[in-house]
Amino acid sequence: VIMEAISYIVRDAVPSYLKGVPIPKSFGGFLKLSVKDWLHLTTFTTVVGGVGYLAFKPYYDKYVGGNKDTIMNFRVEKQKEKVYDVIDVEDLGEKTNFCRCWRSKKWPFCDGSHNAFNKATGDNVASLIIEKKKSR
Ligand code: FES
Repeated sequence: VIMEAISYIVRDAVPSYLKGVPIPKSFGGFLKLSVKDWLHLTTFTTVVGGVGYLAFKPYYDKYVGGNKDTIMNFRVEKQKEKVYDVIDVEDLGEKTNFCRCWRSKKWPFCDGSHNAFNKATGDNVASLIIEKKKSR
C-alpha cells in the first residue's frame, strides 16, 4: 500500500502537478501571468524551496555552518601537541597583555592582531591584561 502511494505520487501526481505550473518561456512572460498563476508559482516555489532547505540543512549544519566547534589555533607552534607557555611572575612588568585570539605574531603576547581578526569576522576577542596593583 505504501509503495502504491509512493508510486502514484512520483509517477502520476507530481508530473501532473508540474504540467500545471505556469512557468513562462521568456522573462517577459512573467509580466503576463495572472494573479492565480502567480499564486500557483509562489506555492510551487515555496514547496520546492522548503524541500530543498530541509534536504540540505543537515549537511549544512554538519559540514559548513552549524558546527561551531572548530580549531582556534591556525599558526602558533603547530608542531607541538599542546601549546602552553610558562612565564615567571617576577618577569611580568607593570602591565602585560597576553593574546587570547591566537593571531599574534608575538605569541603569547598580544600584538593587536585581534583588531583585524575582529573586523574580518565580527568577533569580539581581545587580550588578557595582567597588571600590578597600583599603590595607593
Ligand atoms: S593579538 Fe591576540 S588578543 Fe591581541
